[in-house]
Amino acid sequence: MRTEDPRPIALKDYSEPDFWIDEVHLDVDLAPETAQVRSTLAVRPNASRPGKDSLRLDGEGLELLEVHLNGEKLGPNRYQEDESGLTIMEVPAGAFTLTTVSRCNPAANTALTGLYLAGGIFCTQCEAEGFRRITYMLDRPDVMAVYRTRITAEKALAPVLLANGNCVESGVLEDGRHFAEWHDPYPKPSYLFALVAGDLGCVRDAFTTASGREVDLRIYVEPGNEDRCAYAMDALKRAMAWDEKVFGREYDLDIFMIVAVSAFNMGAMENKGLNIFNDKYILARPDTATDLDFANIEAIVAHEYFHNWTGNRITCRDWFQLCLKEGLTVFRDQEFTADMRSRAVKRIADVRMLRTHQFPEDGGPLAHPVRPDAYIEINNFYTATVYEKGAELVRMIYTLLGAEKFRKGMDLYFTRHDGRAATVEDFLEALSDGSGVDLSQFKRWYHQAGTPEVMASGKWDGAQQEYVLQLSQVCPPTPGQPHKEPLHIPIEIGLLGEDGADLPLSPIGGTAAASGAHVISLTKREQTFRFKNVTAKPVPSLLRGFTAPVKLSSNLGEREWAFLMAHDSDPFNRWEAAQKYASMILTGNIAALSNGKIPRAGTGFAGIVRKILNDPGLEPEFVAQMIVLPAEQTLAQAIGQDVDVEAIHSAREAFRASLAEQLYAEFERAYNENETPGTYSPDAEAAGKRSLRNTCLGYMAATGRADAIALAKNQFDTADNMTDSMAALGVLAHTDCPEREEALRAFHDRWKDDHLVMDKWFALQATSPLPGTLSRVRELMAHPAFSLRNPNKVRALIGSFATANQLRFHESGGEGYRFVAEQVLALDKINPQVAARLLGAFKSWRQFEPVRQAHMRETLERIVSQAELSRDVYEIATKTLG
Ligand code: TRP
Ligand code: ZN
Repeated sequence: MRTEDPRPIALKDYSEPDFWIDEVHLDVDLAPETAQVRSTLAVRPNASRPGKDSLRLDGEGLELLEVHLNGEKLGPNRYQEDESGLTIMEVPAGAFTLTTVSRCNPAANTALTGLYLAGGIFCTQCEAEGFRRITYMLDRPDVMAVYRTRITAEKALAPVLLANGNCVESGVLEDGRHFAEWHDPYPKPSYLFALVAGDLGCVRDAFTTASGREVDLRIYVEPGNEDRCAYAMDALKRAMAWDEKVFGREYDLDIFMIVAVSAFNMGAMENKGLNIFNDKYILARPDTATDLDFANIEAIVAHEYFHNWTGNRITCRDWFQLCLKEGLTVFRDQEFTADMRSRAVKRIADVRMLRTHQFPEDGGPLAHPVRPDAYIEINNFYTATVYEKGAELVRMIYTLLGAEKFRKGMDLYFTRHDGRAATVEDFLEALSDGSGVDLSQFKRWYHQAGTPEVMASGKWDGAQQEYVLQLSQVCPPTPGQPHKEPLHIPIEIGLLGEDGADLPLSPIGGTAAASGAHVISLTKREQTFRFKNVTAKPVPSLLRGFTAPVKLSSNLGEREWAFLMAHDSDPFNRWEAAQKYASMILTGNIAALSNGKIPRAGTGFAGIVRKILNDPGLEPEFVAQMIVLPAEQTLAQAIGQDVDVEAIHSAREAFRASLAEQLYAEFERAYNENETPGTYSPDAEAAGKRSLRNTCLGYMAATGRADAIALAKNQFDTADNMTDSMAALGVLAHTDCPEREEALRAFHDRWKDDHLVMDKWFALQATSPLPGTLSRVRELMAHPAFSLRNPNKVRALIGSFATANQLRFHESGGEGYRFVAEQVLALDKINPQVAARLLGAFKSWRQFEPVRQAHMRETLERIVSQAELSRDVYEIATKTLG
């Protein structure tokens, strides 16, 4: 807790450690309230920082019992202990071993970092700085050691004992106790250490690598959940095969384990050979998990597995380099999903995610570069900017280099840095050296925050038969960065002829595109690009595939967007055009509502939707994406200031109802045609049909017609899978109808003992647009399945309310803000990481109209004025206020 204002850590202050630690031997004796850890470290001075005679180790919340140096017990005059660590004075000039014996209390650990006991399972979370809560260590990622871990526990309490690497010994001891010893031959930083102990069921499988290594695969879950592991296991094997095929990377140990736990701060963790997961991202059965759950499981299992090379074999020198492993690994998991499912749909989903989470971060008070240059609490920097924008930067490099050269660059990166802790510079140098492409200007993307704005203005010159495209870029100021340099922005473009087909592109002063599409590099503040032999006025399709994370504005009007929505051969831009077109109508209607004018019905838009619904050549999931209107948050962002959440909600709902009235028959037909009879399959094709079908159901219900509500009720009553059940329940729960309470109660009674399904039930009620939502959320906090100690519960109920219910969180009286702030403060005493994340809901406070702005400011000021705040919440609250 804060005694004085915490000091930021800066990248420019990085220096190598004074000592290296090559080996760590841990002997962990587990009991719920005392875990005793005897740690022996093989220490050696760092030759490049000679003459240091005291060793400083990190350690927090530990009870120190003994210290031994080279086997000799030290008196208390030889070391000093304080709240952040331990200093050993007068250490030898050469190598030495240091043993400490200390204790911690897993049962009392509610922050879920370090060693904790939750749901009867002992488990660890060390990233970023949790290892120091287990034992004393140079807890920084550039110190890489070989770990040997011996775990002892009562056998009845913890029949399964796991740690990184291979199990080298195990046995039974006296008094019902037993032990296991694990050895991980690969040197790793402390943040990749893991240990798990408890009563766990195990599902086993095997994978043979390309070079013939037989790998034992295991998923450990709470007993009784073994029947929910099949999809995760299948995803793991596909990820292993994909990394061999696409990146030439094989797995390197004889065993790979996953453990699913119910109390976890994030999605999952890539500990070497022993990934630990939030069970939400492992457990799935058709009747308990939705298609989205299945897709998330596939992506996250792959993400953590891919970290074995991008993160573990090559790790980060310091935490400023976090994007080196996260941005790159997100790029890899995105590509995996694109190959497993639909590339077009995946790109749309990723850009949606980037725009709803990263753009507001980059445009608000918490904006920071993909590689930040200072932080107060590193846990606050596991952000959409580091992960999602970080992945976009890797994707731009991929676009600039092309598949083949990108692979050459990656291969060089792996050979150069394997077994080491690297930096963003190392990565860029390897990609540049491996490909021969200059990335020096590109590097600015890593240290310049903010979303660049690209302005495009195109003109057809009939006399010259040329198309002239003028592009310019600006990046708005962000905290601490008033001036910005121009960036290297790859922009894929196409030109559509009158018939909607791509014209061949012949750039003047560039290389001709083989296909109709072409990537240009915008590197200056202003630049002109010319294309010859353009015989008729084309419609440009700019930033195809969203080749750069920028905001693009152009001189295109509604007619051109409609044309692109109907014809663009680039599926991403076709979707983008639909969004732009809908957004134009909606922002007009929002303004109309405020001025007492009549909103437009959007018959032109409806006409194209009709054609799309009737096009048998389009995949159902793509159709579903095409017809979903921009979200309320997206519209708020597009408006940008003086946002009126009620006008947005009303205008959007009215437009949905109007579209549904115009197209009721088409929606009904698509609903009926996209049934997926027979055994449920989670594959992308079947999921796409369900997605389109349920989108149509939502539209039909938006009319309020009794037969549509009856259809939803019938679907709810007869559904044999969670996707259809949840979709129908969502319609009912968000509609003021008599079926609402009945359906919610029936769902509750069926699933009240299933904690993951109960999270869905919480989230659905928290996101209801109906007026009583806040009081319902308050009531639900008293439900026996709810607990502030479990992050999934907090995210499902309070998090959904604060971040996915714009209308009700932003009630004009400020009661939504005060409620969330109350929970942030209560949670800060329990789990600061989760509390700080929840507080992120306030980051866009300046975009709202003055009354709400004042309420939000007041709420934030009240938080900052609290005497005892964690560094986590303190940093977010003060930076948000600005
Ligand atoms: N490295 C994890 C990932 O794969 C993120 C993570 C899991 C994490 N648990 C954490 C980060 C706890 C900070 C704290 O993305
Ligand atoms: Zn990751």
